[in-house]
Amino acid sequence: MSEQIPEEKPKTMLGRMRERLVPEGLPSDDRGRMRLVVGNLILHLHPTKVNERTLKWTYSWGLGGLSAVLMMILGLTGAILLNNYTPAAPQAYRDILELRSNVWFGELVRNLHHWSANLLVVIAVLHLIRVFVTGAYRPPRETNWLIGVAMLLLILASNFTGYLLPWDQLAYWAITVGTSIISYVPFIGEGLTRLVLGGPEVGAKTLLNFYSLHISFIPLIIFGLMSFHFWRVRKDGGLTVPKGVDETEEVKTERVTTIPHLVRKEFIFAIGWVAAILVFSMFIPAPLEGIADPNISPNPAKAPWYFLGLQELLLHFHPLVAGIFLPTIAMLGIFLLPFFDINQTSVGVYFRSRRGRSLTLLALGLAIILTPAWVLLDEFLLDWSAWLPTWSNLLSNGLIPLAVVALPIILMDDWAKKHLRADIEERVLFIAVFLFTAFAILTVIGIFFRGPGMILYWPWAIPTVTH
Ligand code: HEM
Repeated sequence: MSEQIPEEKPKTMLGRMRERLVPEGLPSDDRGRMRLVVGNLILHLHPTKVNERTLKWTYSWGLGGLSAVLMMILGLTGAILLNNYTPAAPQAYRDILELRSNVWFGELVRNLHHWSANLLVVIAVLHLIRVFVTGAYRPPRETNWLIGVAMLLLILASNFTGYLLPWDQLAYWAITVGTSIISYVPFIGEGLTRLVLGGPEVGAKTLLNFYSLHISFIPLIIFGLMSFHFWRVRKDGGLTVPKGVDETEEVKTERVTTIPHLVRKEFIFAIGWVAAILVFSMFIPAPLEGIADPNISPNPAKAPWYFLGLQELLLHFHPLVAGIFLPTIAMLGIFLLPFFDINQTSVGVYFRSRRGRSLTLLALGLAIILTPAWVLLDEFLLDWSAWLPTWSNLLSNGLIPLAVVALPIILMDDWAKKHLRADIEERVLFIAVFLFTAFAILTVIGIFFRGPGMILYWPWAIPTVTH
């Protein structure tokens, strides 16, 4: 009897190629191989194992991951928006109108892009705060801190350049006010403003400049830095390990595999956020006013919301102090932080110590009381230039009020050191929380409590007028 040979299935060309390409030992079915590829990709981003404690939501709050999710949404929606946009005035504005009414899901894509961009500013700042209050910027993570600060500045630049693109009144005047701050840079201010605007004022060239920065240069650098940032988190041994306030020794904890423990959490978190942003964007449209008109300025004319703290400072101090000196000092302080605050024992402890926690609460309370009090005092009572008419404006309106504001901060620091025996890291925390909260309050005042003529007002009392 002749032996029956099992009939071989006729192979397609694809099947034969697959057989040749898949090395022995790899899963032969498609699902198995897909799993392997995805797993490999994940393990390029993450280490194979992570410390169990770092998986706690209440430590990192997933803020870095959420920033990454938002960057992905921005990249995707931005690429779609590109197809329906011409960077020329007034066509740019017409394109946005067209996008909203005649392009399939055009309005939704625009809303998604708009809200994600604004949320990214908030989330990246919260991520920075989390890293700061847990001391996670200290060596060996100082490089990642510096990369993070650079990314935050680029996120602001990306938001700012994108703000102009709809070419409506809101965009035109916010960018006009925002860029006016550049002109205060000593010696090169005028030239620098012309360079950024492509002329003496916001116009067609500014739109083209901002467009090219917004769609190529800035996102390219951000995505490049993001990859480096992720790689550094891995290289620095993963996230800092959270510690209780009384745990002074090195914590020994379990390590668990990244797949599935971390990846499952990240996946649920990302899906949840994408769904929330999607629903929000379905119901809340991104603002769009009438077409940009250089002859009609809204009153008040305000910079984009994230620069309103700075605009508020400009109402109280000489432009050189508010627009140049204070931002430079703040940036220097943030950049240099990991080089003078290097205590390792409190890394991973929220607010450093018990005393640190009390000082944080105190700084919050003081900033909430003192900042509005200063704004009111300066608005209605203090008149330095009238009191010191012969003094230069930089002194009477800049350095003197600055000294008056700096004095209580120096006294508070001295009091924390002498009476509470706060060490250097607790004092850094105390002052930073105070200054940051004060700036956040100035931003809120700038957004909600400045009306026509930039006078203080109740937002529900006077409507915005144009002239
Ligand atoms: C596009 C913006 C950013 C993205 C996508 C991003 C992403 C991430 C991710 C995924 C992590 C690990 C998980 C976590 O801590 O949530 C991380 C950690 C870290 N990030 Fe960022 N980040 C961004 C901006 C920043 C900023 C603005 C800073 C600070 C200036 C910063 C400094 C750090 C540091 C020092 C770590 C390590 C924290 C630790 O070990 O506890 N990052 N970042």
